[in-house]
Amino acid sequence: MGDAQRVVEALTKDEAGAVQRLIEWLRIPSISTDPAYAGQTREAAQWCADRLSEAGLQPVLRETGTKAKPGHPIVWAHYGGPEGYSGPHVLFYGHYDVQPPDPLELWESAPFEPVVRPAEKGDPKDVPGERIVARGAVDDKGQVAGFLEALRSWHEVVGPLPIRLTVLIEGEEESGSVNLERFVEEEKTHLGTCDVCVISDTGMLGRGQPAITTGVRGMAYTEIILTGPDQDLHSGMWGGRVRNPINVLVELLAQLHDDDQRVTLPGFYDRVIEPPQAERDAWAALPMDHVGGLEKIGLPREADAGEAGWTSVEREWARPTCDINGIYGGYQGAGAKTVIPSKAGAKVSFRLVADQDPETIAQSFKAWVQARLPVGFGLEFHDHGGGHPGAVPFDSPFLGAAESALEAASGTKAHLIKTGGSIPVVGLLKKELDLDTLLVGFGLDDDRVHSPNEKFELDCFRLCMRTHAHLIERFASL
Ligand code: BES
Ligand code: MN
Ligand code: MN
Repeated sequence: MGDAQRVVEALTKDEAGAVQRLIEWLRIPSISTDPAYAGQTREAAQWCADRLSEAGLQPVLRETGTKAKPGHPIVWAHYGGPEGYSGPHVLFYGHYDVQPPDPLELWESAPFEPVVRPAEKGDPKDVPGERIVARGAVDDKGQVAGFLEALRSWHEVVGPLPIRLTVLIEGEEESGSVNLERFVEEEKTHLGTCDVCVISDTGMLGRGQPAITTGVRGMAYTEIILTGPDQDLHSGMWGGRVRNPINVLVELLAQLHDDDQRVTLPGFYDRVIEPPQAERDAWAALPMDHVGGLEKIGLPREADAGEAGWTSVEREWARPTCDINGIYGGYQGAGAKTVIPSKAGAKVSFRLVADQDPETIAQSFKAWVQARLPVGFGLEFHDHGGGHPGAVPFDSPFLGAAESALEAASGTKAHLIKTGGSIPVVGLLKKELDLDTLLVGFGLDDDRVHSPNEKFELDCFRLCMRTHAHLIERFASL
């Protein structure tokens, strides 16, 4: 029996232990975007470092940010590999931070009190199978845990790893990876010796349909605040005399798209590279019903909408978009108040594709808003990070290793897909180090990522652990 197979057997035996460990991690509310959770976020980092120690590595917590604006620690570990090793140096990346759990009232169990439960009976949208429900279950603690479990079992069953490995698990992915660039810069010499990065933070094509994701979109995320009068005003006395910041804001935002749902910022599409026809054909032939997915979110197929001239899957995987993620100002409480607010704000994100540049897009958005401000109005602008789009070249020698590991673990061939989501590190590693990333993810479309009742199917968790065991063996033999 091969080493990976022995590890898989051990993983199968101790599955209950693995689930218990994941539950412990999920209990820690590592909400990176909210400073109130800085302590717990660090605790989640330490938890992860402790598991790496148990797997025979010597992890450290590396501080990020500055004295004035501290960031969340990066879990950092390195293993040099066997004597005389000449195979690839593998970088594993993941994130231990999670999105805020809001809105809390929509959770069926508390977001940080993980439960393992079978699919709901009677809900036609639910498919049988046990799942673990908690914030971070699939994004990304559950998937990182799959890797940690593979390391733990390898250590216990086989001994020292057969590969050179660096582990980088950050705590700011969900808040735009704002301190990551600096860290990558600092560790450029070390990271420069890596040959491939592996990430489990994406999804599969569907249940029982493993996939390798060959591209993520980039992102530019900015918050704008329009300031008008220096105080809130009675809308009877002042309505009709001054522009209302909320009225101005929504007028502006409404102009961001034209009738074809194309983004109107000048030059927005200048650097967009269109997917080759062969790739579009391959996507159309994938065994999935992308438009039908709307029915799982309470919409009819007819609600399929977006940029004219592209299919649903093309719009998700290969076209840039603009979304308003939040909008505020004025009176938000119960009942009615008659007020012209002094300020109004919106959180605006752009999903980007190759070869768009996040900085350029953010700047052009800012200039576009500035040019449309009414007399006397001010503009505040807060950058929330983001990242470059990233793609894995189809001719990467590591793609074959991932395909064969997935096949060994699942018994079926992996599909090649893309995702509309973003993982800033992918573009960063490519830009700074010319390093390619393998995105081998285990999420499902209905995992409710970033939403209430986020879950990770135990079937997927199992496949994740096994795949990482096989990946280690495949990399060692390259
Ligand atoms: N794991 C996701 C990215 C993802 C989502 C991949 C869905 C595949 C399917 C990641 O944690 C994430 O949420 N990223 C953010 C990045 C942003 C904050 C810069 C995203 O995509 O919104
Ligand atoms: Mn994630
Ligand atoms: Mn996420």
